[in-house]
Amino acid sequence: MPESRLGQYQRIVILTGAGVSAESGIATFRDAGGLWENHDPMEIATPEAFARDPGLVYRFYNARREQLRNVDANPGHRAIARLQREFAGEVFLVTQNVDDLHERGGSEQVCHMHGELRAALCLHCGARHRTESSFDHATPCPDCAVSGGLRPDIVWFGEMPYHMQEIDVHLARCDLFISVGTSGQVYPAAGFVREALAAGADTIEINKDTSGVSTWFHQQRQGPSGELLPRLVEEILGAGA
Ligand code: OAD
Repeated sequence: MPESRLGQYQRIVILTGAGVSAESGIATFRDAGGLWENHDPMEIATPEAFARDPGLVYRFYNARREQLRNVDANPGHRAIARLQREFAGEVFLVTQNVDDLHERGGSEQVCHMHGELRAALCLHCGARHRTESSFDHATPCPDCAVSGGLRPDIVWFGEMPYHMQEIDVHLARCDLFISVGTSGQVYPAAGFVREALAAGADTIEINKDTSGVSTWFHQQRQGPSGELLPRLVEEILGAGA
């Protein structure tokens, strides 16, 4: 993929994963010390786990929601927001992250395919609400007022991610696909690079390590996203000027 192409793109899709929030102090899932090192995802992040031990699942997500009060966006989040503001073409941001650091970094369009920590889903009426507070099975739904049905609005293993049709539309017409800070272990997100390739897009991966899908990228940039993303955004905007 020649550097000279950086100025020619019209439609960019950016996929982010836990690595983009690592420099804000949020643990990733699969790195050393990551969330899934101390917790079995099958005991936390499945509908079956929630049915078996809802208290454990509420506590896990309440603690993670609380943690959001003590962190902030980093230069990687802010660089993506800058690209969305200043790029002449389209920039579609899809994240697997359930934090709200892209929004706090200035992104106005963020597609949360795995749901959001600061949201609850009512299993009785289907309503989704924003909330920054802890909740559990005793918390009544603000819409239908029934207790016992609120769950974290997180897409668990075995569930269908949100917004797949919209994501597929953007992948099918993008000419540059950038993946940042994701291990490429979880589908369907891990397969997005191949959808972008099928659409004829160039592909760039930013990761501090190699990922499970690195070989599919035209270009790999290895290092921390807080440094590499601002640099890449500068290159793209500079090339288009
Ligand atoms: P992972 O924890 O699997 O991967 C994080 C990736 O970020 C790894 O490839 C790291 O090398 C990379 N990384 C870490 N720090 C970085 C940094 N500062 N700069 C650049 N890269 C860095 O997280 P995800 O791929 O996001 O799903 O995980 C995907 C899904 O698995 C999550 O959305 C979650 C999880 O189970 C659900 O909860 C449904």
